[in-house]
Amino acid sequence: MGPFALNLLAAAALLCGEAAAQLLAFPGAEGFGRYAIGGRTGQVYKVTNLNDAGSGSLRDAVSQANRIVVFTVGGVINISSRIVVSKNTYIAGQTAPGDGITVYGDGFSWSNAHNSITRYIRIRMGKGGQSGKDGITIAEGHDMIFDHVSVSWGRDETFSISGTAANITVQDTIIAQGLETHSCGGLMETDGGISLFRNLYIDNKTRNPKVKGVNDFQNNVIYNWGGGGGYIAGDSSAASYANIINNYFISGPSTSVTAFTRGNANFRGYVSNNFYDSNRDGALNGAALCASTTCYSNMAIQSSKFNYPGPANLLSPAAAVDHVAARVGCSKPVRDGVDTALINQLKSWGKSGALISDESSMGGPGTIRGGTAPADADGDGIPDAWERSNGLDPNDASDAMRISSSGYTNLELYINSLVPGTYYYYYSYSAMP
Ligand SMILES: *[C@@H]1O[C@H](CO)[C@@H](O)[C@H](O)[C@H]1NC(C)=O
Ligand SMILES: *[C@@H]1O[C@H](CO)[C@@H](O)[C@H](O)[C@H]1NC(C)=O
Repeated sequence: MGPFALNLLAAAALLCGEAAAQLLAFPGAEGFGRYAIGGRTGQVYKVTNLNDAGSGSLRDAVSQANRIVVFTVGGVINISSRIVVSKNTYIAGQTAPGDGITVYGDGFSWSNAHNSITRYIRIRMGKGGQSGKDGITIAEGHDMIFDHVSVSWGRDETFSISGTAANITVQDTIIAQGLETHSCGGLMETDGGISLFRNLYIDNKTRNPKVKGVNDFQNNVIYNWGGGGGYIAGDSSAASYANIINNYFISGPSTSVTAFTRGNANFRGYVSNNFYDSNRDGALNGAALCASTTCYSNMAIQSSKFNYPGPANLLSPAAAVDHVAARVGCSKPVRDGVDTALINQLKSWGKSGALISDESSMGGPGTIRGGTAPADADGDGIPDAWERSNGLDPNDASDAMRISSSGYTNLELYINSLVPGTYYYYYSYSAMP
């Protein structure tokens, strides 16, 4: 059974098991942001060039609401100012040919981009970005999901969610190498709910992440944080309510402090089975942290889990590391050289990794091949071959945005078929704790 069949099964199961009105953003969407609608009721927009702006560019694609954005080109899009994403936008990076899409330059804002879905894209800020700006910023807005994104080289934070932002998920994403001197993973600080599942935080001196408010942190891998801290439990007078479950912390060459720092009794944490490998011996051989305040930086340990929408299948900490190493970040069509180098650092299990102050040591954004998009006679975003094999008319552009019996548009069925609908598809049930 291929990923497409699984997608259909997941969609069918959803229709039977939950109210049809609450369709998942895509099969495999989880957490607080899982119901984001994206561009389902809008139009398709095809990104046809790598220009910074103008017709056919990514900036133009996301400048108006209600679009499903697909790509007929792969490569590096150099941007000279920030891209601001509109609400109800589904950026489907997995549709790009070649090696997919890297956006290099000044970073993105999803502030007020309610109901956005973002998948399989690389956002690499770098020294050319504005000082004081983040790789990705969300300061307000609700219902957003980021899936298989690779974000790196933030000048301020690398990926930050703060303010009144609510109901947001970041899953299967790599958050890497905040640039020195700030060198931050990012703030995850809102009362409206953030889910962080199966992400890799790597090579950031501090804030991997820094958490306040309502937060669900499960199956993440944190590698080579620096002296500023790994998971920082918000040290303010405001109250926090966090699950911290089955994550794996692995020290690297830059690591000089323990996994959890700076909590106090206002930070209420439900903690379970978080592993820590601090010995940098070239093998993955950590052990569970003690479930008490001494291991969790003075936070107030809770006896029961906060009732947040968790992962469908929680992985063991070791399986989470396998999963993160094998497939998170923008892994479709392929991982780029930067993510490959980062994963090689992770798999040194403590021996390699570094904080960086500019991206030249990583070779910049690298070479991203352009590729050739499949034929699409009616220009509706769905390739002819897929239309034929799924009972659609390759000469009828109106069928792409038609809602199918699954609840998704035909275009979404196509773009979701390009990638696995479940992360646990790969695992035997023995990987489940
Ligand atoms: C984008 O920026 C990179 C790195 O500075 C550069 O090598 C590349 O030529 C630029 N591409 C275009 C199309 O300007
Ligand atoms: C977030 O989702 C919850 C549950 O559906 C809902 O009650 C709440 O109003 C949402 N918050 C915002 C700001 O949309």
